[in-house]
Amino acid sequence: MRIIVDADPGIDDALALYYLRAHPDTEIVAIGTVHGNVPVEQSTANALRLTERLGIKAPVAKGAARPLAQPLMTAEDVHGEDGLGGHAGDDPTTTHTNESAAEQLARLARANPGELNLLAIGPLTNVALALQIEPHLPRLLDKVVVMGGALNVPGNITSYAEANFWHDPEAADLVLQAGFEDLTIVGLDVTMASHAPGEWLEALPETNYARQILGFYADFYGSFLGRTGFVPHDPLAAAILLDPDLATYREDRFAIELTGRYTRGALVADQRFLAEGSPFGRDIAIERTKARYAVTAQHEIFLDQLRHAVTQP
Ligand code: RIB
Ligand code: CA
Repeated sequence: MRIIVDADPGIDDALALYYLRAHPDTEIVAIGTVHGNVPVEQSTANALRLTERLGIKAPVAKGAARPLAQPLMTAEDVHGEDGLGGHAGDDPTTTHTNESAAEQLARLARANPGELNLLAIGPLTNVALALQIEPHLPRLLDKVVVMGGALNVPGNITSYAEANFWHDPEAADLVLQAGFEDLTIVGLDVTMASHAPGEWLEALPETNYARQILGFYADFYGSFLGRTGFVPHDPLAAAILLDPDLATYREDRFAIELTGRYTRGALVADQRFLAEGSPFGRDIAIERTKARYAVTAQHEIFLDQLRHAVTQP
């Protein structure tokens, strides 16, 4: 499976790279970075640090520095000032390429029609910009998996919105209406349920880099969940891209709330039960292509796979 990763590393983004690296039949073709957990300068430096540390031979293209239609807001309280829990370490020795993440995504999709898959685990600004550059992107990419949204569980960054979609609601809505033929959304409904307990972390050697960067992240989650451990959002999205049978889904037509005072950035769908032939019509995104939303996942299997992935040399 050949994959383009668009990310805002970010501690759980790092785990997603570990996860992909552990699968021999998977090739990370390229990485695009975006604002979100930290400013894009930081997420780009972290992507370069991670490709060096993990031995991932993939170009890193620097992406959008801010959302399409709102001021930049970042999340150092979750991922640390350096975006890797205080363990980013020395400056990378490699540099990002001279094209933007959006240009890289459009160029690679054109050059490999139907062959590349996209794993988007940060705000969707780059993917939205790539759609402006290459409107045929939905036909040129194969599978698209997006980590984002909260449908039948609360949000995380606000009561109703999940962080990736909240960081750029307009971009997320453009992606959901673009017509990707094989789009899977991995939201908080399955990621929160895949909580890795403190024991999972303590079972890793103290010298393990994933354990080191996870310390800050686990403290953040412990501070409001009232239990030790952390939520592996991005690696679960990576796992579902590689093995869709890890999850079960509902198919629906989705949109992002853009104007709600309390709900801006929320993922919405018309989930009412309407019998065939019902006189009532659906009232959300009825003109859009359907996407799959993950509703359950095999957490134990995933967490075992993740442990294996982060302990590989
Ligand atoms: O809501 C979780 C998502 O927001 C993850 O991608 C995490 O890295 C943050 O970007
Ligand atoms: Ca992320």
